[in-house]
Amino acid sequence: MTTRTAHKIILVGAPGAGKGTVAKGLVDRFGLTHLSTGDMLRAAVAAGSQVGLLAKTFMDRGALVPDDVMVKLISERVQQPDCRNTDGSPRFLLDGFPRTLPQADALAAEGLAPDLVLFIDVPNESVVRRLSGRRTCPACGNVHHVEFAPPLKDGVCDRCGGTLVHRSDDHDATIRKRLDAFAAQTAPLVQRYGTVIEKVDGNQPPEIVLKAAVAVLRRHGNAGEGTL
Ligand code: AP5
Ligand code: MG
Repeated sequence: MTTRTAHKIILVGAPGAGKGTVAKGLVDRFGLTHLSTGDMLRAAVAAGSQVGLLAKTFMDRGALVPDDVMVKLISERVQQPDCRNTDGSPRFLLDGFPRTLPQADALAAEGLAPDLVLFIDVPNESVVRRLSGRRTCPACGNVHHVEFAPPLKDGVCDRCGGTLVHRSDDHDATIRKRLDAFAAQTAPLVQRYGTVIEKVDGNQPPEIVLKAAVAVLRRHGNAGEGTL
């Protein structure tokens, strides 16, 4: 049992491991701000900003966006008031950052090394099935799955009524490249974060994965609301 409450929390996992799905269940319950670098980049692409135009060339081929771009993006974002406790100390749930050892170094250099890393472990076969069936809502970011989390009305977002789309990097060849990038560049973080890492078996139904993640956050001092 840890005594200090973990408020600098990072989600690590392969593409499609369920980081966004778990984050959705944790943020309200524990009052954390969800920072998904993938969502931030897709918003930049949609806005046609300089960062978005550059990022798109990497994302479309399943490669990682350069470290300097990502570090700047997150350094600026974590300064915002919604990433701070009332005493000014940091409070966030990072999803998809850091994704390389240099990104982890940059976070540590800013005094923001995580006090808890949740590693959602899922085998590659499950990931491919999850990503090829995923449907997302570009309007509100909601995520569905044709098989595991189908919308009530075909092709329509349950939350905002927007039209669900198949993400442009969720096609077989790109999924394989994203998995390669994870193995080569992100998996080494599991060893780097050895002392603060907690592994969750992500190859179970979403509610069971969330329950396990909630238990980990509670063990690390977060009170949280709800019954899970
Ligand atoms: P990003 O958007 O972060 O993509 P990713 O890491 O590949 O992860 P995903 O968002 O695809 O999956 P997820 O783990 O969130 O799973 P989800 O919950 O949606 O990044 C995209 C790109 O941006 C990168 O490829 C890179 O180019 C760039 N980028 C981002 N950050 C970067 C960084 N730091 N450095 C450099 N480049 C960066 O679930 C997937 C599906 O499975 C859904 O349909 C869901 O309904 C379903 N599902 C979820 N959980 C379960 C379950 N337990 N059982 C069954 N189905 C489930
Ligand atoms: Mg995601």
